[in-house]
Amino acid sequence: MKAPKYVVKKGGKYWPSNAMKKIANMTDKNIYDKAAKNPVKFWEGVAKEGLTWEKEWDKTYVEKLPYFEWFKGGKLNFCVNCVDRHLEHPKRIAMIWVPEPTGEKPIEITYGELYDKVNKFANVLKENGIKKGDVVSIYLPMVPQALIAMLACTRIGAIHSVVFSAFSADALKARIEDGKAKILITADGYYRRGKPEDLLKKAKKAAHKTTIKKIIVVNRIGKRVHGKKFLDFDTELQIAESYCKPETMNSEDTMFILYTSGTTGKPKGILHDTGGYAIQAYQTCKWNFDLHPGDVMWCTADIGWITGHTYAMYGPLLAGATTLVYEGGPDYPNPGRWWKIIQDHEVNVFYTAPTAIRMFMKEDFKWIKKHNLSSLKILGTVGEPIDQKSWMWYFNKIGGERCPVIDTWWQTETGGTLINVLPGIGPFVPTVSGLSFPGIKHVIVNEKGKEVPKGKPGLLAQKSPFAPGMLHGVHNNHKKYVDTYWKKFKTMYDTSDGAYLQNGLIRITGRTDDVMKVAGHRLSTAEVEDAIHDNRKVGDVAVVPMPNKIKGQVPIAFVVLKHGKGSKKLEKKLKKYVDIKIGPTARPARIFFVEDLPKTRSGKIMRRILKALLIDEEPQGLMTLVNPGSVGKIKEIIKANQ
Ligand code: WTA
Repeated sequence: MKAPKYVVKKGGKYWPSNAMKKIANMTDKNIYDKAAKNPVKFWEGVAKEGLTWEKEWDKTYVEKLPYFEWFKGGKLNFCVNCVDRHLEHPKRIAMIWVPEPTGEKPIEITYGELYDKVNKFANVLKENGIKKGDVVSIYLPMVPQALIAMLACTRIGAIHSVVFSAFSADALKARIEDGKAKILITADGYYRRGKPEDLLKKAKKAAHKTTIKKIIVVNRIGKRVHGKKFLDFDTELQIAESYCKPETMNSEDTMFILYTSGTTGKPKGILHDTGGYAIQAYQTCKWNFDLHPGDVMWCTADIGWITGHTYAMYGPLLAGATTLVYEGGPDYPNPGRWWKIIQDHEVNVFYTAPTAIRMFMKEDFKWIKKHNLSSLKILGTVGEPIDQKSWMWYFNKIGGERCPVIDTWWQTETGGTLINVLPGIGPFVPTVSGLSFPGIKHVIVNEKGKEVPKGKPGLLAQKSPFAPGMLHGVHNNHKKYVDTYWKKFKTMYDTSDGAYLQNGLIRITGRTDDVMKVAGHRLSTAEVEDAIHDNRKVGDVAVVPMPNKIKGQVPIAFVVLKHGKGSKKLEKKLKKYVDIKIGPTARPARIFFVEDLPKTRSGKIMRRILKALLIDEEPQGLMTLVNPGSVGKIKEIIKANQ
């Protein structure tokens, strides 16, 4: 059968075809105006229709800035919404898990089986003293137990704090300590590019002398684990009671913490609540990705990031669909792996980062061509701006000119997507994200919060009523919450992104602060600087992102030594410091040893100037520097070392 064509080209733009309009959950372009008339009512309507509540709320939206609450007084359990309510179809597949080793068989877990495992694991947590409101740290690779552990937490009202498995022991420790987690769920390891990677060593080091009482270990690579502190995930599951009553939660109770990078050295714990987050995840899956029960969605993001939480785990389940989770490297054992997975498991919705697209563009097309990708319906991108060439390649080569490309803008803080085009409405324009989701309003403003003329670049801000999925604070840090998001515009949420309007649609230009996006991963320059500073030879350091063809951006460090000269050996050593403190994801691509960093009279490092030098642009604003002479010297060092 010929694969349906979901887009048509009209007036030089791509629009949904009749085939798409026929199946799409949302095709009415007036939905934007309708929702804008009364956004609170709009969200009230979708929340009633889309979620299962134990008790309806008393007030839909309460705002007392900088805080606001959705569905106040409403009661629900998140796990019930993801699992129990789909038990009418217990045989429907909830998750397809694809292990990296090609000799191992993929595993399908039905909603019925998931219910069974989640109930049991919730009891394991309870047996080990976990109660509503306790924090559980999860440091797991992409294995089915990750989903089971996360859902089990939500079943009993425990707050999960998932930490990216490629982060270092130090990074995990800092997050355990900030959250005062009582239990750590981890694995002995995982497979990456054909090799088993040790995870347990890092986990043990991180948990040492912290609040962690027990470590529950998933046996993935067959390591033996000894000690009173350790429990085996599967053994515990087997002996656990089979039913665990779901905890009744308030809509505004915290459901999870996810640490993310800001402009300081310390990551901040973003707090998400239960009801608001749930509806954002559900509704965006339904309308952006047009998920229907039984559809297979593959979001390639790791659970250590918000995209993995919302679209690799929770969103598809809330919608009663099937989520596909793949353990390993994208090009293992060859660059055809991803496309073979799409073919073998008939993936309908594929959601990935521009970095991955750019990586595959370099490969021989034969790796894609030999696979049948006709199951695909929608393609999505996230995490960084996508350039025209990559968008077109994705559309042509992966989507076969049949599938809309949905470029979704959002953040860890927003919980779910906020700006994109809806597949049933269109248009699909390369490099342009689109409109704010119905019921949400963004404006593009100047530093003072005044709207800039249409088409002019400015800062992206969100207006009240704020999206239900938005963060509801920073863990233990009210000041940081206020300073980061509310200080600049007071009554509007500051996204820290730049944007402009292109034919009425929002085009994102990227971060306006010191946050980098390295291969779609969010990292702060300050964190990398702190790690390098730990070496006693280092006097001063500045880290800035440099554009990179594949990864979007890579960190570059400029280091002033207290004494002595830099060397390749020291460069290697300093990179190791970053590996240890954060993880290889944050490792600088280059370290330049310089005599002095460009600084203002007040001692502020002018990273803007370093950024310009890296891309061979003439730096502006040298007049404000105390040491303008440093700039020429740095320029020479960059040239000599390229
Ligand atoms: C960037 C990821 C351009 C943006 C979900 C934002 C994007 C940061 C897009 C958040 C997009 C995300 N186009 N830029 N479609 N999506 N970004 O918290 O700079 O890891 O502020 O959340 O990613 O990164 P985070």
